[in-house]
Amino acid sequence: MSEAENFQLVRPFSKKCAAVAVPPGSKSVTNRAMVLSALRGGETVLRGALFSRDTEIMSDCLRSLGFVSERDSAARTFRIAPSGKKPEAAKLFVGNAGTVARFASALVATFDGGEFIFDSDDEMKVRPMKGLLEALKEQGSEFEFFEREWSFPFKMSPRGLKGGTLALDASVSSQILSAILMVGAFAKSPLDVVLSGETVSRPFVDMTIKMMESFGFGLDEISKSRFSNFRRIEPSVGEFYDVEPDATAAGYFGALPVVAGGACFIAGLKKDSLQGDSAFFDLLQESGIARVDKLDEGFIVSSETRDISPREFDFKDISDTFPTLAAIAPVLGGKISICGIGHTRRQECDRVSTVAENLRALGTKVDEKEDSLSVYPNPDIAKISGPVEIKTRFDHRMAMSFAVLGCFEGFDSKPRVKIEDPKCVSKTYPNFFDDLDSVRESSEKFRIVAVDGGAAVGKSSVSKACSKTLGYLHVDTGAHYRTLTYGLLEEGILPSDENGVSERLASFTLGTAVENGSARMTLNGRVVPDELIRTKTINSSVSIFAAMQSVRSFVKKYQTSMADFAKSEGFGGLIMEGRDIGNAIFPNADVKIFLCADEATRAARRAKEGISDSISERDKLDSTRKISPLKCAEDAVKIDTSKLSKDEVVARALAEIVKS
Ligand code: DC
Repeated sequence: MSEAENFQLVRPFSKKCAAVAVPPGSKSVTNRAMVLSALRGGETVLRGALFSRDTEIMSDCLRSLGFVSERDSAARTFRIAPSGKKPEAAKLFVGNAGTVARFASALVATFDGGEFIFDSDDEMKVRPMKGLLEALKEQGSEFEFFEREWSFPFKMSPRGLKGGTLALDASVSSQILSAILMVGAFAKSPLDVVLSGETVSRPFVDMTIKMMESFGFGLDEISKSRFSNFRRIEPSVGEFYDVEPDATAAGYFGALPVVAGGACFIAGLKKDSLQGDSAFFDLLQESGIARVDKLDEGFIVSSETRDISPREFDFKDISDTFPTLAAIAPVLGGKISICGIGHTRRQECDRVSTVAENLRALGTKVDEKEDSLSVYPNPDIAKISGPVEIKTRFDHRMAMSFAVLGCFEGFDSKPRVKIEDPKCVSKTYPNFFDDLDSVRESSEKFRIVAVDGGAAVGKSSVSKACSKTLGYLHVDTGAHYRTLTYGLLEEGILPSDENGVSERLASFTLGTAVENGSARMTLNGRVVPDELIRTKTINSSVSIFAAMQSVRSFVKKYQTSMADFAKSEGFGGLIMEGRDIGNAIFPNADVKIFLCADEATRAARRAKEGISDSISERDKLDSTRKISPLKCAEDAVKIDTSKLSKDEVVARALAEIVKS
């Protein structure tokens, strides 16, 4: 590979992040779901599954064991079903996949008869199997080892699981315990599993137990080291099972809005995630580094202020995600201290020192200790003319973490970092750089967003908040009608004088001033201040003027020109709020959001603002007029804001915008 090919240049975002990320499925969940689908019988389609060497190996093993296992990589599904044929003999290759090595041997142990040859990569031959194979032997299976005792390759002659009390040593791998738990319900007499020591990585055992319940396998956890009463229960999974995205991979897109600004919708993440690393999102939210809203279809992560005070975090339980936070720490306002990471010095590389080395190369001050790292703010990060070379040491997590930092907004688009050996990401996320590119591309798309609804449904506050987060121009069209109403009334034109209105409009000159990210209409060269356009008098006549053809045509031309205005001012998009934006002004808007709320809620909101407003009368006039009445567009997303907080509505609206 040439020098050029062996580096990945990372282009900074030229616009704030506004995109959807679809990280790959979790490997642990995919492989458990495959085994549990096979065990429960019937047909299961796993959606959002990971396609990687380890999951392909699991799929091949299932096929060798008499199951249908069909992959559709475009749809990201595996279909698992019984084939009707139970093999008497098979050769199984488990590669270096710990889950396959352990789960497939336990699955074979449930067979009554036959001979199965297992083989593996050399690396797997030295990984722990003894505790599991001893237990399966005790339960009735016979083994013949071809090289070393209790390791691959071997021949297994299963005789089913006899049940009774089983002493299990899962002290070196929680997968040994997970394997036994998954097949426990198939024992011929009730099984009682007693651990002879503690097991490591308890979160993975919890993942197994929760997934077993979904697939219809129950058990009682008598204590941390004793499991019994294995039984079949009503499964909650039907024909389909949605594999969660990999939470660690998802974390890179959680960190992205912190450096690039904006918001990223991470599809498929679940509130009650099975994966321990999903706690990274709670950390982002609780520390104030980002805002995380957990919606039904995924999480929307949006930028908050980077100006946070110094913070300390213990990453012991989510150590795979520490490089993600450490790499973005230079853009934050306070020192970030991370402890509980000493053991990561012995992972794919010495992660603590490699993260520190890369941060220093970027001119960032770092304090490194055996078990911790403190990263200081680096206000000069935007000035790096780079590209600085990021050392990955064949570690996928170094590559992905620093690629996120490389996205730090830079309006010159010059790469600040180049990632060494970018192919190392294939270990868990082969398409990472492609996915990052499509998130960048989607963020650069200029979107027109229509937000419609009646009075006091929350249009303004939601539109302003979304505009601020995404760097879009906000336009309140209600203020346009109010400004014109003020101008007309000031000149003595009454709402009853339609001819006078059109004559006078012809003498008005409109312009635009931008204040805090919002466009304000200027009338004859000046912005009419809020206190003059939000009066009782204006409230009671604005809807009458707004219903006139002459007023609407006059305003429409001005409003449609706002898209070009927003582009020319460098905004990433346009959010226009009103009554007829989705139907009349921008019928081809990229997203249409229609807000509504019950009467009592709206009245209470106005009262809180101290505004006397005839909401229902105005709504009646606005929705019954002949021209451009207030109406939910057919293709709009309707959100009832009555029982939602402002932040909840903003989160939903942001998700709809970035999805478009
Ligand atoms: O959003 P608002 O309450 O400030 O709007 C004031 C009035 O302006 C509203 O009662 C009807 C009119 N309007 C309209 O007819 N079409 C729009 N797109 C926005 C407002």
